Order: sequence, then structure tokens, then C-alpha cells
Amino acid sequence: MEKFKMPPLLLLVMFLSLPYTVMGDMRCGFCGKTPVPYPLSTRPNCGDQAYKIKCDSNTSTLYLDSKAGVPYMITSLNSKAQRMVIRPPDVIPNTCFSQDFTTEGFQIDDALPFNITSSNTILLLNCTDNMLHLQVPINCSANCLCHTYINNTPSAAACGKVSLCCSFRTGGSQNAYIIRVHANGCMGYQSYVNLDPGLPFAKWPAPGLELMWATPPEPSCKTKLDCRDLPFSKCSPDPSNAGQKRCLCKKGRYWDPASGYCQKCGRGTGCKYHKNQTPAIGYGASQVELETMKAIGDLAAACLDERRQNRPSMKEVADEIECVISIITGDDPKT
Ligand SMILES: *[C@@H]1O[C@H](CO)[C@@H](O)[C@H](O)[C@H]1NC(C)=O
Ligand SMILES: *[C@@H]1O[C@H](CO)[C@@H](O)[C@H](O)[C@H]1NC(C)=O
Ligand SMILES: *[C@@H]1O[C@H](CO)[C@@H](O)[C@H](O)[C@H]1NC(C)=O
Ligand SMILES: *[C@@H]1O[C@H](CO)[C@@H](O)[C@H](O)[C@H]1NC(C)=O
Repeated sequence: MEKFKMPPLLLLVMFLSLPYTVMGDMRCGFCGKTPVPYPLSTRPNCGDQAYKIKCDSNTSTLYLDSKAGVPYMITSLNSKAQRMVIRPPDVIPNTCFSQDFTTEGFQIDDALPFNITSSNTILLLNCTDNMLHLQVPINCSANCLCHTYINNTPSAAACGKVSLCCSFRTGGSQNAYIIRVHANGCMGYQSYVNLDPGLPFAKWPAPGLELMWATPPEPSCKTKLDCRDLPFSKCSPDPSNAGQKRCLCKKGRYWDPASGYCQKCGRGTGCKYHKNQTPAIGYGASQVELETMKAIGDLAAACLDERRQNRPSMKEVADEIECVISIITGDDPKT
């Protein structure tokens, strides 16, 4: 009798052991009240695992860990622009050392798909004379913005007692993964996004360091089960990475990296634009129309052909029509 009870139990065990996921949505949902955009990932079963961040759901606050494992609060997110702003650390009270001095400032693993954008003005505090001999464009003059910051910021008052401070704009020749503070350079820093140097201090934005993330590719897969959270996709060979497989969107759909979804191609939208970014995925609406029109045109031309032997047979006409329909519906007749 025992034997007959096993199959349903086995089924139940198999069902329960399936990884717990919400079918058909790869986004992580909310961190408290803050939406977490794709591809950012706060858990192992959502988002893209290359884009890990942390969530404190009690305070609805997201954090990005630096290479050294120090969490930096994310103060804003722009999923369309693929950008986020993190809060730079303050200086340790009554000193001019950044709170992240022991980890040599902000550093992000260059293997991760995040980097520092070129929109940041970095103010370097308590610098050594070494900064004066750098070849890179760095401003350590007496009217540098760093003095404006120090003179107007009570918590950075100790920085005023040391003479040298500098500023530079990110981008240029600077490394896009690190704002370095160290004993041979500067001991502290502050950062502002899109700072207009002409503005009085009272009009400066809140401090921030802007980062961006790389466009996420379709999720990788080994079997079709791995693609169950991406509706309208198929586990297929990755055209840009031989030997790898990805959940590529089916025909008539395109990969939208901002939503982590295979969006439907619309008339004049979607596929045509996205084709360049994700080749070999679906057909643009305009391309489908063109191919259909060409197929119908060719068929009509063949039927009108004066010479009888050049006219297509009924079988050929039927095949042509089937092919035209398959182009419209996006089903490959050969699969
Ligand atoms: C969130 O709040 C709960 C209950 O107050 C507490 O047990 C938990 O440790 C908090 N989590 C964090 C990350 O602070
Ligand atoms: C500035 O940095 C020097 C080390 O170069 C340190 O000795 C000094 O205490 C720092 N100044 C402040 C105000 O923290
Ligand atoms: C340094 O920055 C100040 C303030 O923005 C600016 O007036 C000055 O021209 C800059 N100096 C150099 C050498 O770039
Ligand atoms: C950051 O990465 C993006 C692509 O992900 C790239 O276009 C951009 O040039 C990089 N920025 C810097 C400053 O390296």
C-alpha cells in the first residue's frame, strides 16, 4: 500500500522544491515603498544577479555595496537613464578624513556593470602637495569650489585648518570606478551631481555621487525552464557570445532592458529602434510589413507573368501564402 501513496507525495515534494518565484515578472518589486527597477536585484530570485543592491525594507532604503563591502545609501534612481545617485560619506567629526578613508574612499568593482558617470564634481579635502604635480586637470587654486564648500559647511570646519583642497570633474582621464582618498593624496572628499560652478553655495544641490549601470542583456539560460520568468522568450544560442544561451524574445517581441520584459513590437516603435541593441531578436513591425508587401508583390508578379511556364502552381501559391501569413503572425513555419 505504501507504494501507491508515493507518487502524489513525490509530486508534492517536486512542486514544493521548485524555486519560489512570481511567474512572469523578473523585477524585484518594492523595497518598502520604493520600487526597485530592473535589472537591480535585492534578492536571489529577481532582477539580474550581476546588479546586486541591498534593501532595508523598514526604512524603504536601498544601498549599494562598494568593493570593500561598505554600504552607500542610494538616494535616487532613474531607470530610463540607467542612473543612480548615492550619498557620499561625511567627514569624521572634528577631522578632515572621510568616513570611508580606511577603505581608500569609494571604489566599485570594475568587473561589475556599474561605473561613475561624468556628471560629478568631486571636491578633494585635506590634500598633500602631491596633488599639485598631477598631470590630470585638477583645480587646487585659491578660488576652487572646495573652499566654498568648506567655508559654508560646519561639519567640515576642520578641513579649513589645512590649506590644500582641490576639485575635478569626473569623466576625463579619471578612473570611472574609484574616488580615491589616501595618505599620499587627499584624506577626504565630497561630491555633487551636475554642479553649476556659478551658483552661490545656498543654491547647491544636496551632495551626491552619480553612477550608471550597463544595459542588461537578456537573462542567460541552460534550459527552457530558466526562461519561465520571461514570458514570450525562448532559451536560444546567444548571437554575440558563442557557446552561451540566453532567453531571447520571440519574433514580434523585443527585449526591453528597462522593464526586463519582452515587449510587443508596435507600429513604428520598439523593434526598429531596439534591433541595433539586440540583434537577431524579433522583427520590427516595419520590417514585417516590408517583407509581407514584398512577398505579396512577388507572388502577384509571378501570377501575372505572360509566359505560362513561369506562373506558379497552386501548391507554390499556397506555400507562398502560408509563408506570408507566418511573417505576419511571427511564427516560423519551419519550427
Ligand atoms: C526591521 O524591523 C524589524 C521589526 O521592528 C526588525 O526585527 C528587523 O531587524 C529590522 N530590519 C532591519 C534591516 O533593520
Ligand atoms: C589632514 O591630513 C593629515 C595627513 O596628511 C593629518 O595628519 C591631519 O590630521 C588631517 N587634518 C585633519 C583636520 O583631519
Ligand atoms: C578653478 O575653479 C574656479 C572656480 O570654479 C575657477 O574660477 C578657476 O578658473 C579654476 N582654475 C583653473 C586653473 O581651472
Ligand atoms: C560607463 O559605462 C557605460 C556603459 O555601461 C559607458 O557608456 C560609459 O562610457 C562609462 N563611463 C565611463 C566614465 O567610463
